[in-house]
Amino acid sequence: MKKLFFVLMAALALGACSKNAGSGGKELLAESSFDTTMNGKKVALYMLTNKNGMAIQITNYGARIVSLWVPSKGGEFKDVAWGYSSIKSYLNATDNYAGPIVGRYGNRIAKGKFTLDGKEYTLTLNDHGNHLHGGSNGFWKRVWDVDTVVSRGENQYITLSYLSADGEEGYPGNLKIKVTYTLSEGNELKIQYAATTDKPTVVNPTSHVYFNLHGTSAKSTNSHVMQLLADSYTLTDSLLIPTGEISSVENTPLDFRKPTAIGDRINNDFVALKNGKGYDHNWVLAKKGKGVELAAVVFEPETGIEMSVSTDQPGIQFYSGNFMDGVDTGKYGQKHGYRSGIALETQKFPDAPNHSSFPSTVLKPGETYSQTSVYSFKVK
Ligand code: GAL
Repeated sequence: MKKLFFVLMAALALGACSKNAGSGGKELLAESSFDTTMNGKKVALYMLTNKNGMAIQITNYGARIVSLWVPSKGGEFKDVAWGYSSIKSYLNATDNYAGPIVGRYGNRIAKGKFTLDGKEYTLTLNDHGNHLHGGSNGFWKRVWDVDTVVSRGENQYITLSYLSADGEEGYPGNLKIKVTYTLSEGNELKIQYAATTDKPTVVNPTSHVYFNLHGTSAKSTNSHVMQLLADSYTLTDSLLIPTGEISSVENTPLDFRKPTAIGDRINNDFVALKNGKGYDHNWVLAKKGKGVELAAVVFEPETGIEMSVSTDQPGIQFYSGNFMDGVDTGKYGQKHGYRSGIALETQKFPDAPNHSSFPSTVLKPGETYSQTSVYSFKVK
């Protein structure tokens, strides 16, 4: 009996180790934890790696990044993506937006209404009477098709696509969207988006990874030192709906032109911070042209991890995890702390369909929406 017990324990221990065999100490999520079928479509877990040991795990449920292992000071790898350990926990999550592509329209559309070519459209209302992140069944909740996975050799990539039907969540037009995640040998994660439609519509997708450069969501991201290359931001009301005005960051706690710790001014008595319950605003990037340019740099002194964000988009929504309440359990059994993840969402401006002065988010038949954004990592 005793012998049997030891044999059993040894087998269990072996099983646990082999899960991470060859992973360089990274606690990779088990493929079996994401293996399921939803509405007749297969959900699975995919992985991209590079020669430096970086590893990204992605599920086609929401075209979602579920883990992102990057090197840190001392050579250790850290998982800088906030999230959950299995498909079941993503389905029961208190936060729907951990790691996916959000859309058709990332961020808010006031009262879920907009007018296009003289016709008014009404979208699902899922945020205090407004429309947020594509609605209750947005891209983040859909099972995407996996078109291509190249998970050997250099510059590994995965292309996922989704057909958003005419009328879905209230949006006009059948919209075909493709997203490609590529991991380079230079520790860059490139996200490329392409979309076409058969009727005029609006589109503004973005990646909604919550980053924690400590490598654990048990720690607050307030210690991250951040720089945003932006001189102004879009003013909002108390429900975070843009008023249409663009305001200078000068002499405000939203001025991140010089690297500043996120927590330094987050609780300042400033109306925009009160409205956002912290940082939850769209910064207007000080871009020179239409190409991919540096937008943000974030550094965590404890781990030495620096992340740079570059994009061809005009805006970036920086959200400081203000709704993370510390009750939820994360990937490795830790409690997700308050303000334990930041989102840096490259995008056009929130509620642009209702503000003619904002860059247009309209997509017409025959046109192709495209976006390229790059998240790159180094140790300092
Ligand atoms: C952000 C948004 C926040 C909040 C968050 C998800 O993009 O700006 O207000 O909704 O997503 O919890």
